[in-house]
Amino acid sequence: MKRILLTLLVGLVAVSALFAQQRRRPDAPLPKWEGLALTPQMGWNSWNKFATEINEELIKATADKMVELGLVDAGYVYLNLDDGWHGERDAQGFIHEDPVKFPSGIKALADYMHERGLKLGIYSDAGTNTCACYAGSNGHEYQDAFTYASWGIDYLKYDWCYTQNLNPVGAYTTMRSALKRAGRPILFSICEWGSNRPWEWAQNVGHSWRTTGDIGVAFLPVPVTYDENGRPRWRPQSVLEILDQNEPLRAYAGPDHWNDPDMLEVGNGMTVSEDRAHFTLWCMMAAPLILGNDLTNMSDETLAIITNKDVIAIDQDPLGIQGLRIKKQGDLQYWFKPLSDGAWAFCVLNAGPEDAVVELDWETLEFNDELSGRSPQFKTVNYTVKDLWDASAKPFTTRAKGKKKGQTLPARTSVTVASHDVVTYRLTPAK
Ligand code: GLA
Repeated sequence: MKRILLTLLVGLVAVSALFAQQRRRPDAPLPKWEGLALTPQMGWNSWNKFATEINEELIKATADKMVELGLVDAGYVYLNLDDGWHGERDAQGFIHEDPVKFPSGIKALADYMHERGLKLGIYSDAGTNTCACYAGSNGHEYQDAFTYASWGIDYLKYDWCYTQNLNPVGAYTTMRSALKRAGRPILFSICEWGSNRPWEWAQNVGHSWRTTGDIGVAFLPVPVTYDENGRPRWRPQSVLEILDQNEPLRAYAGPDHWNDPDMLEVGNGMTVSEDRAHFTLWCMMAAPLILGNDLTNMSDETLAIITNKDVIAIDQDPLGIQGLRIKKQGDLQYWFKPLSDGAWAFCVLNAGPEDAVVELDWETLEFNDELSGRSPQFKTVNYTVKDLWDASAKPFTTRAKGKKKGQTLPARTSVTVASHDVVTYRLTPAK
């Protein structure tokens, strides 16, 4: 009996010592800030258009445009500085902004955003340097997180250049903890290009993770070229390549942890059709919608694409399930995304060089989505179909029996999908 009591006592002491130690360990990893991206984050980032050529004037002018053009109302609330805002670290190791590019300081810039209903994002790197060779956060993670918090930063994109010998899980977890410790909710956007399969470990580390290399202004794959030593040169990823890489990862995405197929190139030089297709497919994939064009100088077509509320609603649907490609047939791709309230988003992409006439035989498009546990059941359920890009198109139904305001709606049987373009519908179960 004595022995049992003694064993119990020793066990109790050991367990409480362990708890006490855990409580005391200042370096115990802290959880991520929860709930900052229940739907994919939306905003603007300076990189795709301006690279490191950024400054206070440009950023403020961009913020003004985001308000004036209704982008903030459409959901684009983050304005994110990418690489090149940095100045030097001081003698204590604290990072400062470039005093020439940002003479009023980043804190003043954050105040400017907050006064206008925007949030300010910043960029750093887990390695010794950023990709454009400014100071990285390696060895300064807590210091940097505290600096960002003191400036009023709301979003951190954290890159993966100059990280030789770093363990990705450790490096990103360290910054996650630092952000939490710093006490200000900061959305954490992981950017290691999918190199270490972040979808398998980053669900509780960040709010999104890049799944691919950098996007370029290219719908079709950019041809590979070789340097003088016969090594393939770096080339950007095209919209079509990114689709193929990001689509199979849908099971890993969900509220507060999204696959990130990189920022948008809408308005940067592709055709209007290609921009429309690119934007729609990013929405079908529940991707973060981070604009990357010059908002102070954009065409009406670009503005119409990035502010299409119905298409944005596909991306932002609260169910938070990434869409799937159910069929590839030659140059045609058929995509569905389950939405809340039993609805579906549907999109046909024509990746080919010619316009295509597509037969809308819904029953042949029937499928079972194991991830959502849903299937459209076109045989028994009739859907009212709304065209999300053609506002003049009349709604129709999948089985010609739907009624709207007492009228029987027709079923459309075929549709033309232009080259490098999409046709996009919202299918709502008819009452
Ligand atoms: C990497 C990232 C890009 C951009 C640049 C900045 O390439 O993937 O999105 O942030 O660095 O140098």
